[in-house]
Amino acid sequence: MKRLSLLCLCALVMLHGLEGALPQSPSYGERGSDLGMQVFQQVALSKPLENVVFSPHGVASILGMLLPGAHGDTRKQILSGLRYKKNGPYKMLKKLHKTLTAKSNQDTVLIANGLFSQESFPMKESFVATNKANFQCETRSLDFSNPEKAANEINDWVNNKTKGHIPSLVKPDMLDSALTRLVSVNSIYFKGLWKSRFQPVNTKVKPFKAGDGTVHSVPMMSQLSVFNISMATAPEGLKYKVIALPYHGNTISMLIVLPSDEDTPLSRVIPHISTATVQSWTKLMHPRKVHLAIPKFTADVEVDLEAPLSALGITDMFSQTKADFRHISAESVHVSKALQKAKVEVNEDGTKAAAATAAILLARSSPPWVTVDRPFLFLIRHNPTGTVLFMGQINKPTV
Ligand SMILES: *[C@@H]1O[C@H](CO)[C@@H](O)[C@H](O)[C@H]1NC(C)=O
Ligand SMILES: *[C@@H]1O[C@H](CO)[C@@H](O)[C@H](O)[C@H]1NC(C)=O
Repeated sequence: MKRLSLLCLCALVMLHGLEGALPQSPSYGERGSDLGMQVFQQVALSKPLENVVFSPHGVASILGMLLPGAHGDTRKQILSGLRYKKNGPYKMLKKLHKTLTAKSNQDTVLIANGLFSQESFPMKESFVATNKANFQCETRSLDFSNPEKAANEINDWVNNKTKGHIPSLVKPDMLDSALTRLVSVNSIYFKGLWKSRFQPVNTKVKPFKAGDGTVHSVPMMSQLSVFNISMATAPEGLKYKVIALPYHGNTISMLIVLPSDEDTPLSRVIPHISTATVQSWTKLMHPRKVHLAIPKFTADVEVDLEAPLSALGITDMFSQTKADFRHISAESVHVSKALQKAKVEVNEDGTKAAAATAAILLARSSPPWVTVDRPFLFLIRHNPTGTVLFMGQINKPTV
């Protein structure tokens, strides 16, 4: 099928009722999703006429996995990007992961996290243990000196966890045979059947006006039913509709956002979307009987995360000289690539969506120099007792 710019449709898969009554301050699910939604905004606004599919939770998960390994400014930037509190995110992340992967969601939401490390790379025990405890993270060792084989093993894992929807995430040329130390991967799979299905006989080819103004013929599904709908207003008085399509089981819905005025580009609404906005919609929702027509669609997108994360202030982790992941390992590593692939399929029965997010960590191309080329002090110390046996000051070394 011809690829379309399904721009007027901004689909968000939402989990309701995670924390019971909606709290004053954002929940940890919302904090992470907010950062991910800001990344989405960056990506969508840079490609205003293309389809974009993205998992906000996938980005938050990858950063959450790297966080216990980070120190100093590298850590501060991740924490402030995620708006996590300095000391206590892990307990909340553990709870969030548990809620998302609870038995009641088991047939519909599948989340998996993996750390793939170079065989000889000495990872700190506490880093591995924290990730295992918070995210049930699996750890595997690989031999990156064979990038082809290592990429295959990671891709097999992703393919398996996304039930074949993301067959490959990492390309061999993203891995460096000498320097790759760690690849952290998050995978999310979702399958939901509409609570109220569309009848295939009612799917008719109808016009759809793309973001660039061209009109395409697309298969449009329709049904006459009661849906929760709200009219919302963005700050400059821009009006848009929000329609909730619940999935079977009632904990997950798709929310569709459509500017009310036909000529308003979607890009004018996107900057206003945050978890707080989404929460405000739920208060405005009213059940209404409508004829709903939405296109059937499939979209498949790969996003490089470095530019959008950097624009949000998360920069040091990508720098060979500034990244500080001292709690992952004594060897200096930095993120050489962070990417996400996501796919969504919407049809009469429901939705299948999958996303895989990865961060690839490399060692420095050459270890840093420490050059003693100025006057220096030395001490010769017996370490077990602390006894200083000698000390000196050297202003002009001679031999
Ligand atoms: C894929 O999943 C199946 C079933 O859970 C499992 O038996 C198999 O080992 C998995 N393969 C990989 C490569 O992880
Ligand atoms: C509308 O939302 C309310 C509150 O969340 C819910 O109880 C109700 O089932 C929804 N109705 C429909 C038709 O989805």
